Order: sequence, then structure tokens, then C-alpha cells
Amino acid sequence: MKLRLLLSLFFLPCASLVSAQNFEQRIDSVMRLMTLDEKIGQMNQFNGFWNATGPVPAEGNSLERYEILRKGGVGSVLNVQGVKEVRALQKIAVEQTRLGIPLIFGCDVIHGYKTLTPIPLAEAASWDLQAIEKSARNGATEASAAGINWTFAPMVDISRDPRWGRVMEGAGEDPYLGARIATARVRGFQGDDLSAPNTIAACAKHFAGYGYVQAGRDYHHTDFSAYTLYNNILPPFKAAQEAGVATFMNAFTAYNGVPASADSFLMRQILKKDWAFKGMVVSDWGSIQEMMAHGYAASLQEAAELAALAGCDMDMESMAYVRHLADAVRQKRVPEARVNEAVRRILRLKFALGLFDDPYRYCDEEREATTIGSATLHKDALEMAKKSMVLLENKGILPLQLNEDVVLLGALANDRTAPLGNWRVSADNGTAIPLTTGLQAYFPDLRWAGGPVAWSGIEAFHAPIQVNETDTTGWAGAMALALSAKTAIVALGEHGYQSGEGRSRASIHLPGLQEAFLRALVQQHPRVVLVLFAGRPLIIPDDIRTKLGALLLAWQPGTHAGDAVAAVLLGDHNPSGRLPMTFPRHEGQIPMAYNDYTGGRPGPSKEVFWSQYNDLPNSPVYPFGYGLSYSTFTYSVPKLQQLPNGKVVLSVEITNTSQVAGTETVQLYAKLPASKHGISPGRQLLDFQQLPLAAGATKKVVFMLTPGSLAHFDAQGQKHLAKGKVTAWLVPNSADVANSLTFVID
Ligand code: BGC
Repeated sequence: MKLRLLLSLFFLPCASLVSAQNFEQRIDSVMRLMTLDEKIGQMNQFNGFWNATGPVPAEGNSLERYEILRKGGVGSVLNVQGVKEVRALQKIAVEQTRLGIPLIFGCDVIHGYKTLTPIPLAEAASWDLQAIEKSARNGATEASAAGINWTFAPMVDISRDPRWGRVMEGAGEDPYLGARIATARVRGFQGDDLSAPNTIAACAKHFAGYGYVQAGRDYHHTDFSAYTLYNNILPPFKAAQEAGVATFMNAFTAYNGVPASADSFLMRQILKKDWAFKGMVVSDWGSIQEMMAHGYAASLQEAAELAALAGCDMDMESMAYVRHLADAVRQKRVPEARVNEAVRRILRLKFALGLFDDPYRYCDEEREATTIGSATLHKDALEMAKKSMVLLENKGILPLQLNEDVVLLGALANDRTAPLGNWRVSADNGTAIPLTTGLQAYFPDLRWAGGPVAWSGIEAFHAPIQVNETDTTGWAGAMALALSAKTAIVALGEHGYQSGEGRSRASIHLPGLQEAFLRALVQQHPRVVLVLFAGRPLIIPDDIRTKLGALLLAWQPGTHAGDAVAAVLLGDHNPSGRLPMTFPRHEGQIPMAYNDYTGGRPGPSKEVFWSQYNDLPNSPVYPFGYGLSYSTFTYSVPKLQQLPNGKVVLSVEITNTSQVAGTETVQLYAKLPASKHGISPGRQLLDFQQLPLAAGATKKVVFMLTPGSLAHFDAQGQKHLAKGKVTAWLVPNSADVANSLTFVID
């Protein structure tokens, strides 16, 4: 009791006014009171193990965890949501532990909390950094109203493998775009003041290289070079750190034979030393104990020691630190200084979040009632969903006319769950606006038929989706309905639970009977509009794709799926999304990205000894950066000006040659000069700008390149500025070969 009274001294008003140095003094004062066990307790994170608003658990695992909590053995919990639950658990930490140190409440707020925004990959397709920041801001606003003060986002893993289900959670294949989006998301979640009750700590994950899992199989081995690490994997993490991200999370995977949670090169050298990161590092779920399965640690005790020594500050769900770290310190295998450093980082975050000033800062029932699901959040989620959609094909069919004779078909026509995406947090199944509803706003008498079902069974985060491969019920009826109308809209694709964690797919075609159904449809119907719901790039075979009248990639748009799609189909929103990931022709081309290294014999060629397939083109179906609009744009011949300070100014005039206002995303790519410090990709994105243009209008886009933007890393992580001849392109997508210019950097 006395100690808790003493601690109340640290609950001073308004942490935002307290300087960082003051935090350090206050941390010192707290740490002076802590026993070794209490310090290690701060380094332990448990999953929400117990319904805190119910009776105290009588026995079993929850009872043990409850006892650990009361002894001050928990620094943070995850997956506890709602003010009532959060408050109840916080009350135990504050009132029943010896020191009363508050808990941090973590949660995967990945694309919204209850009001779901599009999956992160879809938001990345908007290329609209302001909108992406706002979307993260809204996620933070809603989640913090439910007691949460730490999100395990953004995931900034670069991946070139759409078989990996987690591509839905990132920003795609490009390190430059990924870095810009990482910055936007960190700013969005954290705002200017972490202690404000409507901002939450962000977490750059998974450090580092998880996106390179072999064969796209989740949790599988990774094997990549230091060159890839520095040039492709680390840039978005660095951007997150520069944006002030509060925490990092380890990858499940290994680099150079060392599991990320035990990798002192990644954590101590790069992150904490080279980048001077002052925040804390959390393991991934169970990743410390998984070192045993990796064949790296012989026991949980050894795993705990390796992780602690390497710089992993908090143990998520391995029970490794809480069980073994104290002995390791007492027996001098882990210096107490390492524990102190970790605890300091954790307490620093608690101070920054304002939890020492008010442990119930995020527990305002009134704010919870008025914020969650508010009209503003819904309005913004709808806007974001529209902006994320990518028009991939259009033979003059879209936008649809209001008096058009349309029907709607497909397994996703009336689905209220699949379009929500993978990370639901607090959103329930059945809460997405279906496409039927969205289209009925324009076509009140809409006729529709689902056709063969795509899946059955449990639709839940932990359960596999049961794909229908055989039952053709509904096929004939849907086909007959399609043939009775001038235009057939067909909504097909993946369930939200077919992408995401643990949802790798070896085949990335439309699942189940959908592809055969679509093939039959396009063979018989000349005006088919495919609305594709997907958490990753999918393959639509050429014999089908070339017969489509239009193809709108809707991704998994979240709560406002149906109304967003309808607005785009009808032209109330002119599509402006651009692909953040390459769409391959065939799984055999994967891994694949527009910025691949070309090798010494870049194909294709008519001759044999060049880099190419014998049975497929090298090119993708849709390249990175690609997307159509209802407007048409022309590009002038680009201009160049080299300034004496090494800067290069590139400009191009864009004209909207159509009758409708639209937004063009002008992309600047370059091929760097030859460098003995390492090879360079065929081309790489250096910058982009979005340009809203009224019908008939012309605007100039100007890019300024600095020496620093024309640089790359060697395999030791040293940055080298380009010297020599650069080729640059100002183009609408990564495969466009027009509009190039060259210049020389001395
Ligand atoms: C995932 C993380 C996530 C964590 C907590 C893990 O399985 O890899 O990305 O943040 O669980 O839910």
C-alpha cells in the first residue's frame, strides 16, 4: 500500500508536457523500486486470458496467469477489448500489484476496429498517402475508444509472392512506396501526441524479412542476402523508425540462420545502435519458444536467454521470460543491465502513452459509446474503399448507365462477411454492406442470383475456409439470369479468410468452381463485368480475361464493400487505384516484382540463351503501378533541368483528354548507373504524384531528385550515391516504356 502511494507520485498530470528527460528521471524512480521479478514481469505479454469482468478463475491456465498478473508479472496484454474489460484488468494491475504499474493494451488494429476499412494492400492501391494516414488515424480513434493503446501495425514487410496470404496486410512489393505508406500509417496511428486518448502506439512488423518466406508458405524458412535486406526489406522499417514508431515486432523467420527474435545483428546493431531506436521490441506470438522448433535453442530457458541478450524487450506469449529470465540473471548468463534496458524502454512507452498519469486514460465509456461506429468513421471508410479499387479492364462498358439492363451474379453478390477482410478485431460476421444493397441504390429492381456457392462452414479467424469444388447447385439458374440481361455483373473472388495469416495458397486462381463458372459465362455473354474481391493478386487466365467487358478489382473493401463498388461501377467515383503488386500470369513466375534484378542476360529474346521461359512470357498480366480510369490522360514529352547543387528537376504535362474529371498517378522510375557497390533493378520507383484533373485540363507535374534519392546500399549497409548515366521514366505504370530521358550525374 505504501509503495503504491509512493508510485502515485508518478501519476503526474499531463505527460505530453513532460519532457523526454523528465520521463527518464521518472523511469529511474520507478525502476529503483522494482525487484528483478517485477522488472521481468514488465517484459511479459499475455494474450487476453480471462474474462476480467467475470469471476476470478478457479483453476487451470487462467488461474496461473491471474496469479502472475497479481504478482506484477505482466507488462502488457493483447486482445482484451472494450472499456469494461480493459478497465477491469487495469484495475488489477494498478490496485492489486505491489507497485501498481499500469498495463499496455495491444491489439491487431490492422484495417479498422469495428468499422472496417479496406485491407492494407487495398489501401496501398490508392497511392493516396493522406487518405491512408487518415484511415490509420480513424482506426486509432475507434480502437482507443475501446481501451486499446497499442496496435500491431503497420506491417511493412515487402513481398513479391502473392501466394503468401499476408501480402494483404502490407503495402506490396516496392520498398519506396512501402516506406511512404509506412510513414503515413505510423503518423496516422500515433498522431502528434502519443498521450492523447485518441492516439495509439504503432508497431513496425515483422523485423525483418518475413515477406520472403520460401514458396509463399506462411511461417516457412527465409533465405535472402544482406543486399536484399538493405535495399528491399529495411527501407520501410527505417521510414517507420524515422516517423517515430513506438515499437517494433520480430519476424517469425530467420536471417542468416538466426531466428529474428534472437538476432542481435538486427535488433542491437541495426535497430538500436545504427538507427538509435529508443522504443521497445516485442517478439511475435510465441516466436521465442519457436526457436526450439527452428533448431536454434535447446530449451525454453535457452530461448529466453538468447532473445533477451539479442535485444527482444517483450515476450509475447512464450512464457519464456517470466519462467526463466530471473534465474538467467541471477546465474549471470544475462546481465541485469539488459533487463534494465528493456524495462526502461517499456516504461518509456507507458509514460509516453500517459498511462502513469492516468491508467484509465483510454477507458472513457462515453467516448466508447459515441465513437465506435460513428457516422464519420463510416463516411471515411466508404471513401477509402472507393479510392482503393483498381479498374483493370474496361471495353467501354463502365461506368454503367442508370437505365441499363443489368443483373448481378456470383458467390460474392450478396455476401456480408467475405468482403470484410482478414483482421476483424471487433467487427462481426455479416456486417459488410453487400453488393446487392449497393447496386439496389441505383437499380431498385435489381435481379440477382448467387450461382454456385463458393464456400461453406465456419467463417472465423482460426478456421480454414471450406471451398466448394463440386456442388453446382445454382449454376444453371444464374447462367439463365445472366443471359436474360444486356450486362452481367459477376462478383467473385476470395473470402477475407482466404488471405491473411496462415492463409497461403499454392494456386492463386479463383477458388473452387468460380473460375469454371466465369469461363462458361464469358463464353456465352458478351458484356460481363467482373468485380473481383481478393486479398492478393489473383490469376484470371487469358482465355477468360480477354473476353471480359470490364474488370474491377475491389480487394476486400471492409464494411462499405457493396456501396463502394456500386459507386465505382456507376461512375459516382472515377477509379484511381493503381496496383501496389504485380499480377503474374502464372504461379511459375513467382516470386515476381517489377523491380527485379535483370541478370546478365535479360530476356525475352528469340534466341535460346537469354533469361526467359520456354512456355510463358516473362511479363506479368498487370504490372505494378497499373490501373485505368474513366478519364484518359496524355503525357507531354518530359523535360529535364540539372541544378548546380546536384539536384535534378524533371517535369511533364498531363492532359485529361476525356469528358470526365479524374485523378492520374504520375510515377517516376529510374535505372541507376552502373556501380561497383552492387547491381541495380531494371527500374525502380523514385517518386510519384497524384494529380486530380478536370475534364480537358492540363497540369504540370514537377519532381525534384536529390543526390540522396538516387542511391543504393551495398551489402554492408553503406549508402552510395549514384554517379554516371541515369535513365528516368515519367509514366502511368512500371511497364510503360515511353517518356524516358537520360542524364549524367558527376
Ligand atoms: C502475428 C502478428 C500479430 C500477433 C498478435 C501473430 O501471429 O504474426 O502479426 O500481431 O500474432 O496477434
